[in-house]
Amino acid sequence: MNKTLLITGGASGIGAETARRAATRGYRIAINYRSREAQARAVVADIEAKGGKAIALAGDMAREADILRMFEETERSLGPLTHLVNSAGISTGPGRVDAYDAAALAHLFAVNVVGLMLCCREAARRMSTMNGGTGGAIVNVSSMAATLGGRLGSSAYAATKGAVDAFTKGFAREAAAEGIRVNSIRPGMVMTEMTEGRLKDTAFRAGIEASIPMRRVGQSHEIAEAILWLLSDESSFITGAMLDAAGGGYII
Ligand SMILES: NC(=O)c1ccc[n+]([C@@H]2O[C@H](COP(=O)([O-])OP(=O)(O)OC[C@H]3O[C@@H](n4cnc5c(N)ncnc54)[C@H](OP(=O)(O)O)[C@@H]3O)[C@@H](O)[C@H]2O)c1
Repeated sequence: MNKTLLITGGASGIGAETARRAATRGYRIAINYRSREAQARAVVADIEAKGGKAIALAGDMAREADILRMFEETERSLGPLTHLVNSAGISTGPGRVDAYDAAALAHLFAVNVVGLMLCCREAARRMSTMNGGTGGAIVNVSSMAATLGGRLGSSAYAATKGAVDAFTKGFAREAAAEGIRVNSIRPGMVMTEMTEGRLKDTAFRAGIEASIPMRRVGQSHEIAEAILWLLSDESSFITGAMLDAAGGGYII
């Protein structure tokens, strides 16, 4: 079976690691980026150097027109879409509730929730066996923040990831009879571009690690491997699941 995988936010962190590893397992990969063109092209070059096939596609997941174009370009270059990973996300936001700002909240939800839902819509339209597709698998990158409301100051971010999980469950049931599996992964604190600035602060990092049962933060490859398992036929009877990849969770 030909496997075509689109990864949003694929130029860095968890998305980039998933792309590099997927390429060694027979996927042709479209790597979406917003601002990180050089990083996206570097991931493509790594994949091509190992004999894989990949393209880089610009697109802001807060813009529906960009999403539509991205799906069209993916299929034009790589063939019918069979797999999707929604990794694009932002954690920067309004902070604590008393600092909430309507525009910042709207942008956070536009990227983390609405954009992800529109990507799922575009994937479902193409993958559905009702529309002549061959089915497929989707992984939405949520967060452990969805479980406890996030660390202090992350309530808005946590709310977006809670929405991702609820949507994933409902969408999975809607799409199950059409050959599409949909699951979410909930990383705990992982060392990526999103977190490395804060984790350089040794006191902050020590506090974070003390709150994790495994007493350490995770690495991108540990999340990528779980995503690849959820994408693969090895998890063929699993849909609507939330998989925690978080060293045992966290205590706050
Ligand atoms: N690292 C963690 O501890 C952690 C924990 C739980 C969940 N997560 C989730 O994991 C996912 C990946 O994050 P990461 O840790 O790998 O951090 P990352 O390296 O910052 O990756 C996020 C990617 O999303 C892209 N992105 C942001 N807004 C976008 C937009 N509007 N359109 C298209 N792409 C956009 C970013 O590119 P630009 O910078 O160019 O916008 C970046 O490449 C996110 O959904 C995040 O919420 C991370």
